[in-house]
Parts: sequence; C-alpha cells; structure tokens
Amino acid sequence: MPTVAYRGGRLHCEEVPLDAIAREVGTPTFVYSHAAIVAAYDALDRALAARPHLVCYALKANGNLAVVRALAARGAGADVTSGGELYRALAAGIPASRIVYAGVGKRDDEIATALEAGILGFNVESEAELEAIDAIAGRLGRRARVAIRVNPDVDPRTHPYIATGLTDTKFGIPMGRALDAYRRALGLAHLDVVGVDCHIGSQLTDLAPLAEAFARLRAFTLEVRALGAPLEYVDVGGGIGIPYHEGQAAPDPDAYARTVLEGVGDLGLTVIVEPGRFLVGNAGVLLTRVLFTKPRAVGNGATRFVIVDAAMNDLIRPSLYQAHHDLVPVAEPAPGGEPVVADVVGPVCESADFLAKARPLPPLERGDLVAVRSAGAYGFVMASNYNARPRAAEVLVHGREFAVVRARETYEDLVRGETIPPFLR
Ligand code: LLP
Repeated sequence: MPTVAYRGGRLHCEEVPLDAIAREVGTPTFVYSHAAIVAAYDALDRALAARPHLVCYALKANGNLAVVRALAARGAGADVTSGGELYRALAAGIPASRIVYAGVGKRDDEIATALEAGILGFNVESEAELEAIDAIAGRLGRRARVAIRVNPDVDPRTHPYIATGLTDTKFGIPMGRALDAYRRALGLAHLDVVGVDCHIGSQLTDLAPLAEAFARLRAFTLEVRALGAPLEYVDVGGGIGIPYHEGQAAPDPDAYARTVLEGVGDLGLTVIVEPGRFLVGNAGVLLTRVLFTKPRAVGNGATRFVIVDAAMNDLIRPSLYQAHHDLVPVAEPAPGGEPVVADVVGPVCESADFLAKARPLPPLERGDLVAVRSAGAYGFVMASNYNARPRAAEVLVHGREFAVVRARETYEDLVRGETIPPFLR
C-alpha cells in the first residue's frame, strides 16, 4: 500500500491528510513517511541477508536527525562525507563502529574527529589522503582503519553531474594505480587496511553498469588480498535508482542485492552498501501552496505559469539536473477533467527557478495545495537561503501522528551569526 495516496479525496501521508499538516505547519514543508523509510530499509536488509552485510545510510540524501534515528533504530550504519554528517550520524544514535567516511577533501580536523570517534573506516580517495590520515593517526596515538575508493572506469549511464565511476572524475583512485596505493598503505605505520571501496554514481536505473563494476571490484579485491591486506569488508557504494515518474522502471531491492552478492558476495568479507536515495527519496513530498497563476504569452507549450511558494532554494533538483518530480494536487481532482499545461515556478528571481516545465496538470488555482513527489532525498539537504528565504519545515509522519522534526527557519535565523562591525556603527 503506497504511503502517499488519496483517501476520501485528500492526499494523505500514511494516515495523515496533507492539508492538515499545511494548516498546522504552513508551507513549504517537507513531509516524510516513517513507514516508507523503514519499509525500504527492511526490504534491502532482507535482500542481503544471505551474507554478512551492513547497510550504511548515505546521510547526504537526508540528514534530518529524526530520519537518521529511524534508520539507526533498524540497525543501519552511516556513510558520511563531512565532519558535519559525522556529527549528525552520531547525534542520531548511529554507533561510530558502523560509520564509513568518504570524500575527496577531508580536512585535518575532520580526520582527527573521526579517528577520536573510532569509525569503522575511512574511504580514502587519494594517495595524499593516505599519508595525511597516517600522520594524524600517529600524532593522536591511534590506528586508522582504511579502505581505498577505487575507480573502476565504468559508465553508470546517469546524469553527468552524479556520475562518478569514470576515471576523469575527481573521485577515488583509478584501478590501474590503486594496487600501488594499497602497497603504500600497507607500508604506513598507523593504518589498518581493512577494506576496498567503490561507488560509480547515483540514480542508477540499470543494473548492468553495477554488475560490471562489481566484477572489476571482485578481481581487484583478490589482488589486494594477495598483498596480505587483512581485509574485513568490501564496500560497493550506493546509487540504487528510484522511480520519479509513475511507472518509471527502477531496480527492486532483490534484483539489486542479487547483483551485489553475485558480484562480491563470495569473498568472505562483510558487504557494505551505501544507499541514500533508495531509502528516503520516495518517502517524502514537498508540500507547497499556489500563490498565483498567470497566462504565458509565448513559449514552450505551457499556456500558463503556476506560481507556488516553494522554489529552487527548497528543491534544486529540477533546476540543477533537469530532474522530473511528479506534482499532484492535495485535493483529488475530479475524474475526466481536462489537464492544463503549465510551468510551475517559485518566487525566486531567476528563470532557472522552476519545479516543472510544460507539465499537464489538473487546473490549479490560488490557494490550492500541491505535493511535489519523490522529494525525500536531496531535497532539504540541498536547500539554501537564497533570496533570504527561510528554509522549509520538515515533518515526520508515523501512522496517525506527525511531528515537526525541523522547525521552519525564522527571519532571526537568517541573520544569526552576522554582525555589523564597530567601524560601520
Ligand atoms: N556513497 C557515495 C560515496 C556517494 O557519493 C553517494 C552519492 C552515495 C553513496 C549515495 O548515493 P545514492 O544511493 O543516494 O544514489 N544530489 C544528487 C545526488 C548526488 C549523489 C552524490 N553521491 C541528486 O539530487 O540526484
């Protein structure tokens, strides 16, 4: 049963009508379904059950403490990419022993904090980073657990901004050079070489590039083991795509898990996966209200603009990746109505500020509520204060209950930390 659906003519998230949330919390507001998050996690966890594994939730998709806590409660680990995400993961209750830390640009203080916390491992992205981690661990009198992120040179066939598996990206160390990097790591005094890591991209709707990458990863891992590295895990990264359109094909967790386990399941190592979008993407909507409509003079086939109170500062995916998000009115439209083709735009002063272009939609009028679907991943986390817009509230629904899990920002929040210096007073 879908967790966001019409019941009695109103769009609900679980048992809660979205208009009730809009009334109480205002708009724009991100609304997440606890049941959907947990169901996605459980499906993937179950699908990997045949082998020792750890699902490390990629916090970059949605780092809200309540969302992370819901996953922590199911036994999830975390994939973090900054000191800030490490802080969030720990604050939400994910044990350090289940946290992996990736990223091409880790600062010394971030490395030190992760070492002090005792994380499961660093996913190291360059030779220079190996040296830095070794030096910092030495200074702190600690041992650093490391995996090297190897770049298998596989085209993930996704949007170029979220493709990372080709060797001309900044990510990881190309496989051709990576064995030497492992030799180097094994010679460093303060490192424990415990894993091999790879991540080729995000929103992968086709499993073939993953299968190819995992085959290369498997062969490479055997070479690393032959060097005498005491390997404990193989981390295959994240990237499982989700359907953004009604009916869009996306891998189901069983097929994905089969690809993972057929690829690297027989190595006798714990298999780590780092899903972000798959766990939270379709568990969330961005609730927004129509401010105005106006006719469009010329253009792309759309006959009018629908101006809503959510903008590119709240959800940047359409502007940045030309991403499609389904838009649905909260009040169920009468069957058989003629769709009206519209550009749905926000209040931000940029022509790049749109949620949908030339989209056939039921007729929407001032005051109507609209849900932007599939907004649970890479929504709020990518939000900004552009145009001095306070960031949206976040709500978590649980059955008949809901809670504001992040308050809407206020104007005071907007200027927090700013000062007018004495020479301007
Ligand atoms: N692991 C690593 C090392 C990553 O770089 C990423 C995503 C993930 C895991 C999680 O990938 P997922 O399972 O969510 O696909 N802002 C973009 C997505 C950027 C993804 C960056 N890395 C978007 O809105 O589509």
